[in-house]
Amino acid sequence: MFNWLRSKKKKLARDVKTDLHSHLLPGIDDGSPDIETSLSLIRSLIDMGYEKLITTPHIMQDYYPNTPEIINKKLEELKSALQQEGIKVSLEAAAEYFLDEFLIEKLKQKEDLLLISNKYLLFEMSFMSESPYLKEFIFQARSAGLIPILAHVERYNYYIDNLEAIEDISERGALLQLNINSLTGYYSKPVQQLAEKMINRKLVNVLGTDCHHHNHLELIKKAKGMKYYEKAVTLPLVNYTL
Ligand SMILES: [Fe+2]
Repeated sequence: MFNWLRSKKKKLARDVKTDLHSHLLPGIDDGSPDIETSLSLIRSLIDMGYEKLITTPHIMQDYYPNTPEIINKKLEELKSALQQEGIKVSLEAAAEYFLDEFLIEKLKQKEDLLLISNKYLLFEMSFMSESPYLKEFIFQARSAGLIPILAHVERYNYYIDNLEAIEDISERGALLQLNINSLTGYYSKPVQQLAEKMINRKLVNVLGTDCHHHNHLELIKKAKGMKYYEKAVTLPLVNYTL
């Protein structure tokens, strides 16, 4: 009886078919190094049930000085390789912007930014300390009609004992993205626990693979069997709307 209920519940649970955080374009950041690896990662993501991939290379002034031109050129290269190989998937590109004074300036100058679905702006911060620009950035982005998404919130150690700070970011109008592999304890036990607390408090708007390499995908397969993943996919995620 209980087994029957459990399997029925499993069938009812939604799964995520659109991913909006990954590093699949070859050779432009710390993700896939070459086109063969990109193809093999995408094959694995399709096997895992993904149908649409909005990949997000880093844009970071000193380390990854990517531009919309560089990213769009790589996207076209990868799309033609997919076509040649007969791999069917919807592939788009946006970016994961590092929040610094350059990003604030781009927003103020109304420069063309790489957005997810024309409105979502994925951004990340230092793992050492919260950006001094965070509040101003959320305000500026919202004023420009954009919706900022803070990448892998649970990985910022300075939020581990500060769920209130995460709530504040959400109340200011940014969405919160969680890395699926955080649920396995891959980054650390405290990161896993923060991820679980965020799911309990419904402070997750986006699930992401943040796939850089095959190891990440193995962890995500493991996470997909875990109870907090099942709980996360019942939240009203942006993934379901794209
Ligand atoms: Fe990332």
